[in-house]
Amino acid sequence: MGRLAGKVAVVFGGARGIGLATVKEFVAEGATVFSSDIREPAEAVEGARQSLVDATDEGQVDEFVRGVIAETGRIDVLFNNVGIHLGKPLVDTTLVEFDNIFALNVRAAFLGTRAVLPHMIANKAGSIVTTSSNGGVMGRPGDPVYNATKHALVGMTKSIAVAHAHQGIRANTVNPGAIDTDMLRGTLASPEDFEAKRHQLTASTPAARVGEAWEVAKAVVFLASDESRFVNGVALPIDGAKAAGAMPGNRYSLDFELGVR
Ligand SMILES: NC(=O)c1ccc[n+]([C@@H]2O[C@H](COP(=O)([O-])OP(=O)(O)OC[C@H]3O[C@@H](n4cnc5c(N)ncnc54)[C@H](O)[C@@H]3O)[C@@H](O)[C@H]2O)c1
Repeated sequence: MGRLAGKVAVVFGGARGIGLATVKEFVAEGATVFSSDIREPAEAVEGARQSLVDATDEGQVDEFVRGVIAETGRIDVLFNNVGIHLGKPLVDTTLVEFDNIFALNVRAAFLGTRAVLPHMIANKAGSIVTTSSNGGVMGRPGDPVYNATKHALVGMTKSIAVAHAHQGIRANTVNPGAIDTDMLRGTLASPEDFEAKRHQLTASTPAARVGEAWEVAKAVVFLASDESRFVNGVALPIDGAKAAGAMPGNRYSLDFELGVR
C-alpha cells in the first residue's frame, strides 16, 4: 500500500519542476491529487487532476479549494510550491520587483494555507509542506530579496506548527539547494551557459553537484505522510549539505561568479 494511500493532496505550483515531480510521487504513493498552476502542465500525470489556478488570486484559490472539498470532503496534504526567483543585489532591486516577489512567493503560500487550514482543523489532521529554499535558512550574496521571501515562509510555517500542532496539524518546509529545473536554468542566459557554469553552480555545495527535482519530491512525500507524524515546524534542507556549514574559501568564492554577484 502506498505511503499516502487514502489521502487527498492539494498542490499549488505543480505544472513543472519540483511541483510536477511531487505530483508524480504523490500519485505513485496512492494519494488523490488535485494539482494547480498558472501554466498548463509540462506533462499530463495519469491519476492527478491538473487545473489552472493563479495562486496569488484570492478568489481563484478559494474556489479551487472549495471545489476539492465539495468533491472529497477533506484535504489531508497541502503542498505550497509556487515561487519565482530574483537574482539581484538589494541596491538594484526596484520597489515593484520587491512587491512582486513578496506578492507571489509569500502571498501564494498564505492564501493556500488560509483556504485549506480550516478543513484540516475540522478534521483534526493535516500536513502542510511549503517550498522554501536554502536561502530560507542562510544568507546568500546574490539574491537577498528572494531569500527574504523564503525566510518569511519558514517563519509562517513554524508559527502554524506552534499554533495548530494540538489540533493534529503539521507544517514543515523543504529547503532545496540548487535543483536542476527551469527556474535554475532561467537564472542563466542559455542552456549552454548552464553547462558552462555547472561547476560554479556546484561550487558552494559540499556534495559538489546540482540536485534533481525528484530528490526534493521524495522528502515532500515523507513530510506529507504519517511516517513524519512527530516532525513539526522543521525547515528540512535538501541541499547536499550546503546549509550545514563552511567550506574552504576557494569553493565559496566561486559563488560570486554566478552572474548574480
Ligand atoms: N530550482 C531550484 O534550484 C530551487 C531551489 C530552492 C527553492 N526552489 C523553490 O522551489 C519551488 C519550485 O521551483 P522550481 O525550481 O520547480 O521552478 P519552476 O519555475 O519550474 O516551478 C515554479 C512553478 O510555480 C508556478 N507558478 C509561478 N507563478 C504562479 C502563480 N501565480 N500561480 C500558480 N503557479 C505559479 C510556475 O508556473 C511553475 O510551475 C519554488 O518555490 C522555488 O522558489 C527552487
